[in-house]
Amino acid sequence: MPEPKRGNPLSHRCLPVGSPPLIEELVAVEPVTSLSGRMPDQSPESPGSAAKPRSAVSAVQLDAVRKVFGETEAVAGVDLDIADGEFFSMLGPSGSGKTTTLRMIAGFEQPTSGRILLHGHDVTGVPPFDRDVNTVFQDYALFPHMNVADNVGYGLMVRRVDRSERDRRVTDALRMVRLTGFGGRKPSQLSGGQRQRVALARALVNRPRVLLLDEPLGALDLKLREEMQIELKAIQQQVGITFIYVTHDQEEALTMSDRLAVFNEGRVEQVGTPADVYERPTTPFVAGFVGTSNLLRGEAARAVIGSEGTFTVRPEKIRIATPDAPVAEDELSAMGEIRDVIYLGSDTRYIVALEAGGELVVTQQNLDTSSMEVLEARGRTVRLVWKRRHVLALAGGPSAGEEEARRNP
Ligand SMILES: Nc1ncnc2c1ncn2[C@@H]1O[C@H](COP(=O)(O)OP(=O)(O)O)[C@@H](O)[C@H]1O
Ligand SMILES: [Mg+2]
Repeated sequence: MPEPKRGNPLSHRCLPVGSPPLIEELVAVEPVTSLSGRMPDQSPESPGSAAKPRSAVSAVQLDAVRKVFGETEAVAGVDLDIADGEFFSMLGPSGSGKTTTLRMIAGFEQPTSGRILLHGHDVTGVPPFDRDVNTVFQDYALFPHMNVADNVGYGLMVRRVDRSERDRRVTDALRMVRLTGFGGRKPSQLSGGQRQRVALARALVNRPRVLLLDEPLGALDLKLREEMQIELKAIQQQVGITFIYVTHDQEEALTMSDRLAVFNEGRVEQVGTPADVYERPTTPFVAGFVGTSNLLRGEAARAVIGSEGTFTVRPEKIRIATPDAPVAEDELSAMGEIRDVIYLGSDTRYIVALEAGGELVVTQQNLDTSSMEVLEARGRTVRLVWKRRHVLALAGGPSAGEEEARRNP
């Protein structure tokens, strides 16, 4: 049975993790008065269009939030403003402070300093059970001896919600996660993705206004994870609840989010839509963590771009040409040698060492090349060409790879 990681998730509203908790424990933490069946305020617009705040009051606001554990500054001053109905992700490497931030929003941890507001109310000192939020953890565990409906309705039963109301809400929650008709099955009769959706239903049955998800797909294999990403996003759009989603997987964050925050060492480096963060990273760290970093700086920047600074260009924006290929007015180019070729089926990744120093990664679709042909490119001298407008200037600082090397020398 997986152990809850830190703190006690059972002190949270609905999620039994591990063995069934003492009934007193759950009753004690959940005031029955909050079970009035309140639904989140639904705006008439589609929640999917929520790249910007839909109502004047944010669902969640973090104001200079810090958290220090002994010597470790886990969260080093984070400001966030998450709109009602938004699918918001916190993306970053392991140890960057995502879970700690989520746990402070849930109320499991108290900030060392700073404020947290939920729907405009300062909840900084408010315990988890008095916050209108629920959490889905990565290591969710269903009770194996109970059927799906009882798993989903367990928290409501413990809180003595009457049978008919409970059945109604369980049916509703199962419908939301597209498991209508599965109520009678045991967890062992479900696929991994279905079990994950039961865990989600168990949180949704409480009708929170904000759902916090901490790497909920982490235990699933790649294919299932990709399917669940699409499912989760669809469910979120349908129910209109604010989702705050923690992940270290950039593709996951780009696929699902209306907006995301990129975390690094307890700080938020950039907040924006997936396109903002991918197409217009503002720091070397973001450029490297969300995508391939492809930095040009120092001598390479002077030689290729013609100016001082740190620049990046995305691998798919670069084309590989012969050394004597013409370069248009609106293009830049650099000579180099193909050091390595990685055949990926639909496309190929080339690592090119530049004459000016440094290297660039280039991805090309395999439109009409075979694996044999691309592999023969190794060692070839080429000219890399890209549009000037695809060069992005970055603020200083180390890239994600350098950061990693610095921390784990
Ligand atoms: N309860 C705790 N006690 C001491 N250090 C902690 C505790 N929780 C987290 N940390 C530290 O805080 C930092 C951020 O951790 P965490 O928020 O879990 O990161 P992430 O979720 O991004 O992987 C890490 O260095 C971690 O070791
Ligand atoms: Mg974490």
